Amino acid sequence: MPEAPYDLLSGDAAVRKLVDRFYDLMDDVPEFFVIRKLHPADLSGSRNKLYMFLSGWLGGPQLYTDKYGHPMLRARHLPFAIGLAERDAWLNCMKQAMQDCEVEAGLRMGLLDSLFKTADWMRNKEG
Ligand code: HEM
Repeated sequence: MPEAPYDLLSGDAAVRKLVDRFYDLMDDVPEFFVIRKLHPADLSGSRNKLYMFLSGWLGGPQLYTDKYGHPMLRARHLPFAIGLAERDAWLNCMKQAMQDCEVEAGLRMGLLDSLFKTADWMRNKEG
């Protein structure tokens, strides 16, 4: 069986590091304010949930599902207006985080390709 992205990334600490970098960038980089402003002032809950979700999504332990049940991601994002700008900011923020964490280029491109589909599916407003 091919190795799961979770193992290729090298496991739990790497997923945590990636998510921390993602939210640090969202907090610091003006380009990402368009999505930062949708999040709570304190990002610790967001950090934890995305870390738990990605652990399972990458083929590792299903931390999010074990604790919260089915993610219902589209429904959970409906309270936030998400269009093209928000989708692209999210993806660019993740791309930058992966680069900063030195995720290997082939793996990075594959993951971003899959994340594009998930992020695009989250769009709930025109434009
Ligand atoms: C398309 C652009 C996106 C925007 C603007 C966005 C924004 C948000 C916001 C504002 C929250 C609430 C944060 C909180 O309650 O602390 C959230 C939660 C979450 N997002 Fe996103 N998100 C996007 C895409 C994604 C994608 C692509 C994924 C998964 C790969 C994802 C996974 C999650 C998860 C797991 C949660 C926590 C859900 C919960 O249990 O409440 N998001 N997102």
